[in-house]
Amino acid sequence: MTHLTPMTMGQQFGRRSWAEPWKIKMVEPIRLLDRAGRERAIAEAGYNTFLLRSEDVYIDLLTDSGTNAMSDRQWAGMMLGDEAYAGSRNFYHLEAAVQKHYGYKYLVPTHQGRGAEHLISKALIKPGDVIPGNMYFTTTRLHQELAGGTFVDVIIDEAHDPANLHPFKGNVDLGKLEDLIKRVGPEKIPYVSLAGTVNMAGGQPVSMANVKALRSLCDRYGVRIYLDATRLAENAWFIQQREEGYRDKPIAAIVKEFCSYTDGAWMSAKKDHLANIGGWLAMNHEDLYETARNLVVIYEGLHTYGGMAGRDMEALAIGIEEALQDDYMSARIGQVHYLGELLSDWNIPIVKPVGGHAVFLDAKAIYAHIPQDRFPAQTLAAQLYLDSGIRSMERGVVSAGRDPVTGEHRYPKLELVRLTIPRRVYTQAHMDVVAEAVKAVYDEREKVRGLRMVYEPKYLRFFQARFEPL
Ligand code: F0G
Repeated sequence: MTHLTPMTMGQQFGRRSWAEPWKIKMVEPIRLLDRAGRERAIAEAGYNTFLLRSEDVYIDLLTDSGTNAMSDRQWAGMMLGDEAYAGSRNFYHLEAAVQKHYGYKYLVPTHQGRGAEHLISKALIKPGDVIPGNMYFTTTRLHQELAGGTFVDVIIDEAHDPANLHPFKGNVDLGKLEDLIKRVGPEKIPYVSLAGTVNMAGGQPVSMANVKALRSLCDRYGVRIYLDATRLAENAWFIQQREEGYRDKPIAAIVKEFCSYTDGAWMSAKKDHLANIGGWLAMNHEDLYETARNLVVIYEGLHTYGGMAGRDMEALAIGIEEALQDDYMSARIGQVHYLGELLSDWNIPIVKPVGGHAVFLDAKAIYAHIPQDRFPAQTLAAQLYLDSGIRSMERGVVSAGRDPVTGEHRYPKLELVRLTIPRRVYTQAHMDVVAEAVKAVYDEREKVRGLRMVYEPKYLRFFQARFEPL
């Protein structure tokens, strides 16, 4: 018997709507504070949405990280936690799931993605090294810098333009990469840091053709490729939908093929893998495995738990299987695109095409009158909370931080606010409310002046910086 998916049902009955392939069995009440309460909360938070109490938030689109709803099977798996210090049964289940679906030989578990970033950066980067990548990610780049390396952006130019409709805006510009390899020499490049999809570009995918071509280029120079696989399953959906020859391939097969062109990957399992905590580093080369397996016991925990409880590893192993189901992924990205379409219909400037995990508001376009050193995206995130209790995240100059050499702000071309959709958490009605709130803030855009930073921590400042309205 074949099961009808929302898409095949649409073909069969001439219906166009789709729905999530799950139903809700437990709910968590949320509430909307009144205007005075929201004013007080955001002022106490220094106009930084990271510093709000979650209780004071109505719809929480800060991040899709660790905010997923687990399935009944995952919760059942939590009861099967083998809480042994060493050699937990759940570790072997997780190892088998990663080997089966990502295809790498060795697995080192970590407490979350940045734990894995720390290990790979420490193991492979020497002071003076250069790490090319398809746009920076905050924690990834910081670990590369702390290990003595310098990140160099080699993403295609289209990625820096919010209005450019390139279907694979996450692609590596192979010309930029080859010039860099020739300029600094391949021995200075410990690996290419490839992300699928690219978070800071708006959740934009990398094509299979691009990773294949990247593999041949890197083989010519003997350079390795390590993948940030955090949202690779979502990347696979875009390949399936947009790339010639993949329309009938399952997401799972696309993920496995993609990984086959890389030497290993790190993972924040708090995203694609539908868990609330967890991560891993996986690789084919034994030298990296040896080093990482040794380093993990210093920074994370034994090499068979890496900072996770047995039950977390079990939930994660089950989550991997669920994340790679085609009907799940169509609904997941379908919901993100539903929100994107509502905003587009009202001509609100967003990053296009809409990516996999979030809709990104173009704060530079919305607040064209606020200069970037008055933090337009930070301002927009605060305004959205004030209007509606919806929490979003700045992804602009605050996130980009300061240049470690000059100490100046790094001014990224993209000054964005991310409306990040947690997996399996909110309904279409929540998306309608969000779109209407964004519209209300957009309509009042002329009245807003920007923010001044009054406290700035040294590392990853966006998490804890404080601001005051101008
Ligand atoms: N790589 C990517 C692409 C990420 O988006 C993140 C986290 C990490 C690595 C680090 O993983 O949080 O498990 O340590 N991104 C979150 C976000 C924080 O909101 O986008 P982590």
